[in-house]
Amino acid sequence: MSLLLKRSVFGKPENAGNVLSREATNELIEDWVKNPRLQLHMKQVAHLMKCWAAEKEKLDEAGQWRWEMAGLLHDADWDQWPDQHCKKIIEELEARNIDPEIIHAIASHGPNHFGVEPETQMDKMLFAFDELSGLIHAYSLMRPEGYTGMELKGVKKRYKEKSFAANVNRDEIMDAMTRANVVLDDIISFIIQRQGLAIA
Ligand SMILES: [Fe+2]
Repeated sequence: MSLLLKRSVFGKPENAGNVLSREATNELIEDWVKNPRLQLHMKQVAHLMKCWAAEKEKLDEAGQWRWEMAGLLHDADWDQWPDQHCKKIIEELEARNIDPEIIHAIASHGPNHFGVEPETQMDKMLFAFDELSGLIHAYSLMRPEGYTGMELKGVKKRYKEKSFAANVNRDEIMDAMTRANVVLDDIISFIIQRQGLAIA
């Protein structure tokens, strides 16, 4: 489903720093997302965002939560309102006066679908983790040991097989890597190491 948002400004600058609490975020997810697989995907992406914010961006706890919150909510409207995907959650967060940077990250997580370019590193990493973590999770499901013992070369083999997780667009992944100025192998290794813990 593709929906051009046809706008480039999200939220209001005076709301910078405003976030939802973890409780309010979880409540929104429970309310809106009934599909447990989608919930898991959102939590996995959120965990990766938090790990990246802490380890690579060296952000404090408040900064880490902003990244995590963007991950947690990026697909919140996909389950019940696929024809309004991205639009509905953006409008909800705007109505709740949430930080425009978080809303922009969500709005730009699929630039080829929503027509909003990722600008900040938070935007770019959300785009980068989204599809790639889905492919790696699909691989974990076909391994008896899941993420345990998973290796980069195993993921790369599946990545190169067009028929594996065929809905995961490899061109978009490479686009995301270029925009975020990161290397595919490094991001796969980062995901293997962190994502296994996210579903414990
Ligand atoms: Fe997603």
